[in-house]
Amino acid sequence: MKILVTAGPTREFIDPVRFLSNPSTGKMGIAIAEAAQEKGHEVVLICGPTSETIPGPIRSVAVVNAKEMRDQVMNWFDWCDGVVMTAAVADYTPELKSEQKIKKGNGGKWSLKLIPTADILAELGSQKGNKWLVGFAAETENLKHNAAEKLKKKNLDMILVNDIQKSGSGFGSDTNEVSVIRKSGSVEILPQMTKSDLGNWLIDEIEKGIA
Ligand code: CTP
Repeated sequence: MKILVTAGPTREFIDPVRFLSNPSTGKMGIAIAEAAQEKGHEVVLICGPTSETIPGPIRSVAVVNAKEMRDQVMNWFDWCDGVVMTAAVADYTPELKSEQKIKKGNGGKWSLKLIPTADILAELGSQKGNKWLVGFAAETENLKHNAAEKLKKKNLDMILVNDIQKSGSGFGSDTNEVSVIRKSGSVEILPQMTKSDLGNWLIDEIEKGIA
């Protein structure tokens, strides 16, 4: 199969020295890309800024912000059989991006006007055709309910949801603990495992045919 994977955070720059982002490290997406590559699939990994090493054989495309992530995903969507979106894409970006460093002036309050970014996975879901789509949901409460809503709203085949506040399951961890919700409505609770093992599990499921 031809598998498109996204990973990591995005950075939404306010000026040349400041950005809005999140603690995603890219480990989960890199582990999935690695598992897919090792099992003989063709992989393209679109990755936000990361300090993780992307294994040499993986074809990767580096992006910075949500717009670049969206443009690259759309660029590769025709090519692939399916997409795994692990990227923690910013939902909002500053309306104005200053070319120059914004000075703090007199140190008074500063309000930032944000505008929504594109929901990449929802856009893919609206044009998925025969392709399969897997999403991840980062939640802090009502995990299964919120993830099931996302699965429906974004027209996904499967969503893996984790509690980002639980130890061994959050950003930057080498392990993850997820529940898996499928289009059929079935829910499976997986034990805590390494991101590498979860990557292998997911590719095995995709090979069995999740669509
Ligand atoms: N996602 C995306 N584009 C965005 C935001 C999220 O494609 N602008 C994808 C993520 O890669 C993930 C899924 O949508 O696979 C769910 O992301 P998540 O951050 O959990 O949820 P949101 O849709 O952003 O909703 P909320 O922030 O309200 O929880």
